[in-house]
Amino acid sequence: MQNQINTMKPELLAAIDNAANLQALDEIRVAALGKSGRITALMKNLGTLAPEERKAAGQILNTFKTEIATALDAKKQALETAELNARLANESVDVTLPIRPETTVGRIHPVSQVMEEMLTIFAQMGFDLAEGPDIEDDWHNFEALNIPPSHPSRQMQATFFMDGTTDKILRTQTSGVQIRTMEKGKLPIKIVAPGRTYRCDYDATHSPMFHQIEGLVIDKTTNLSHLKGVLEEFMKLFFETDDVALRFRPSYFPFTEPSYEADVGGALAKAIGKEWIELLGCGMVHPQVLRNCGIDPTEYQGFAFGCGIDRFAMLKYGIPDIRSFFEADMRWIKHYGFLPLDVPTITSGLSMNGGRK
Ligand code: DAH
Repeated sequence: MQNQINTMKPELLAAIDNAANLQALDEIRVAALGKSGRITALMKNLGTLAPEERKAAGQILNTFKTEIATALDAKKQALETAELNARLANESVDVTLPIRPETTVGRIHPVSQVMEEMLTIFAQMGFDLAEGPDIEDDWHNFEALNIPPSHPSRQMQATFFMDGTTDKILRTQTSGVQIRTMEKGKLPIKIVAPGRTYRCDYDATHSPMFHQIEGLVIDKTTNLSHLKGVLEEFMKLFFETDDVALRFRPSYFPFTEPSYEADVGGALAKAIGKEWIELLGCGMVHPQVLRNCGIDPTEYQGFAFGCGIDRFAMLKYGIPDIRSFFEADMRWIKHYGFLPLDVPTITSGLSMNGGRK
């Protein structure tokens, strides 16, 4: 056995030393110490020796085994270190390089920027983000929102129908996401849902594709004063001024009762020579809408609001015509767009560190 060790040892040590990578090293380990490895075979042989020989042979074999295992370990560590160093050298970042041109050439569209600003504010207020499909069915866009087939507000929302169907439409409002959220059956609810909306309309203040953001809060105690508080706080943060007044005018939406249109006054309105600017629709969620979603209106209540994101962008950044948003004119996007690194945050004042470039 000593003879076998004497030939095996230099052979194994040399092989370990020469192993080019971790995989090759593991193959050497298996061939020596694995189930049918050479050293394992010697161990198995011990059983055939006479008891007095077995003890001495066992010791010699154990020492040999330990020696090989130690050499394997040391080589493994060396290979791992070398591999890590190679990776570090390969992936190193040169922080002295100038900024990559695409981060200064490209622009974020004002609608995307404003959506991000709005979500930043609502997230801070504890709202979750909800989404629904652009292609909606009649139930979610109309019926469940308390708008039956004969209802006049269907005509007011000039609907695009998908070819040959009456049940596949381009959503005319994000209000359907209220229904989709309530139908999931998880209460309480506190969500905002931004997205694209579509109506057959085209002039300086209407585009066939535009953007809305919807808000919905449902629990056992939420009331109208919470709605007013949330909207007032939102306006202050969004328009970055404390000089904001909010006025609720009685209005009508089939899915809220009572319903209001909210106007803002203060610095923003004065800046464009007005006393009040109409900004959004809102109200307390109609009991029938709650029932349509399997929610008991004697136990739960809440508010909803919805508004045009494009309109908020036009007001905040002084953009006169909504159609220009979607014309993909490079001169326009260079003027009104935002640098990709100007990510809105509450602490930096949303647009303060970037603003229009
Ligand atoms: N969906 C309405 C529209 O497109 C806006 C609206 C009004 C949404 C009142 C609401 C609401 O959630 O409560 O004109």
